[in-house]
Amino acid sequence: MNKAVAKEARMAASLLRLHFHDCFVKGCDASLLLDSSRTIISEKLSNANRNSARGFEVIDEIKCALEKECPQIVSCADILALAARDSTVLAGGPSWEVPLGRRDSREASLSDSNNDIPAPNNTFDTIFTKFNSRGLDLVDLGPTQLEILDVSASNKDSMVNQEITIFQITP
Ligand code: HEM
Repeated sequence: MNKAVAKEARMAASLLRLHFHDCFVKGCDASLLLDSSRTIISEKLSNANRNSARGFEVIDEIKCALEKECPQIVSCADILALAARDSTVLAGGPSWEVPLGRRDSREASLSDSNNDIPAPNNTFDTIFTKFNSRGLDLVDLGPTQLEILDVSASNKDSMVNQEITIFQITP
């Protein structure tokens, strides 16, 4: 993890996003990591992930190292959850508890990935509903929105103000 974040600090952001995009589709089960096969259409091809989700090779490398040390013990879902947390901490972000014991999915859902992950053109109400259906509330959504704007807004102050206004009117 140290190596990946030292090489590119953005990797912390990318891994956190992978964890989020995994968890919003049938739970945190590493379904996002599965490639297409005879029976699977990979979630990597969804609108939210195609040409956008990145960092898979870091998870692959950790999984390979773990398989050498303790084969078939640590799930990819736990690795992804830990990698999101640990890379965030290494990049100077907050820490949080990560309970372990997730089991990896043998299935993926392209349609759930398309429909369930919040999209940039969704209304606030739609995004709120999607969060709510995952047991997340306004408190979870608020800092997220502001944090993303913090990272990506070119005119940060006006966008944050805009977001706060939407926040006050809609709920
Ligand atoms: C609330 C609804 C959300 C929407 C509509 C949204 C949408 C987006 C979009 C459109 C991008 C840019 C993707 C690209 O340039 O290819 C992005 C990047 C990102 N998102 Fe979200 N996102 C949301 C919530 C979240 C949440 C909850 C997290 C973290 C748990 C998150 C973490 C990130 C990160 C870290 C990036 C940058 C990734 C990188 O640089 O590789 N987002 N998001």
